[in-house]
Amino acid sequence: MYTIEPAGIKDLKALNRLEKVCFEEDRWPVWDLFSVLTVSDVVRLKAVDEAGNMLGFIAGDLRESQRFGWIVTLGVFPEYRRQKIASALLEACENRMSRDRVRLCVRRSNLGALALYEKHGYMQVDVWKKYYVGGEDALVLEKYLS
Ligand SMILES: CC(C)(COP(=O)(O)OP(=O)(O)OC[C@H]1O[C@@H](n2cnc3c(N)ncnc32)[C@H](O)[C@@H]1OP(=O)(O)O)[C@@H](O)C(=O)NCCC(=O)NCCS
Repeated sequence: MYTIEPAGIKDLKALNRLEKVCFEEDRWPVWDLFSVLTVSDVVRLKAVDEAGNMLGFIAGDLRESQRFGWIVTLGVFPEYRRQKIASALLEACENRMSRDRVRLCVRRSNLGALALYEKHGYMQVDVWKKYYVGGEDALVLEKYLS
């Protein structure tokens, strides 16, 4: 069992562990994690087990544009995947973002994440060539929220 709760600065250590496991060469430095947990106009949510341990995390940034929000990170610890935790985090974040449209970007080769986003109604709207470390393209996906 897990619940979705607001995240905050006390989650920095757990989020740093999650980033290392989920994103390897793309992982954010601690300063960026500190920032995503503290700045205003960011929706930040965690999935936690009954003991309060973080199982997954999502952040949605509302600062860049009034027209759409950006999901800037989403990850679930490997041992808790395929239990709909990312789906629950994504839906909860979308609901709290109060935007007509939400965008995100994902490595072209990240087929698991692409399958997740497709299932949730995201469509490709752009490609950012050689965006990621190592030169891989980013696919930019968008969803209209009703
Ligand atoms: C991508 C990620 C967040 C998915 O988390 P999750 O909690 O396992 O996702 P869910 O259980 O909600 O998956 C829902 C559906 O998405 C699809 N999906 C999710 N992961 C998948 C995978 N690895 N392969 C194929 N389909 C997948 C499936 O359709 C799945 O439904 P099903 O399990 O009934 O088949 C997780 O694998 C992860 O943290 N990966 C590393 C970080 C990452 O790539 N983040 C996204 C960056 S843009």
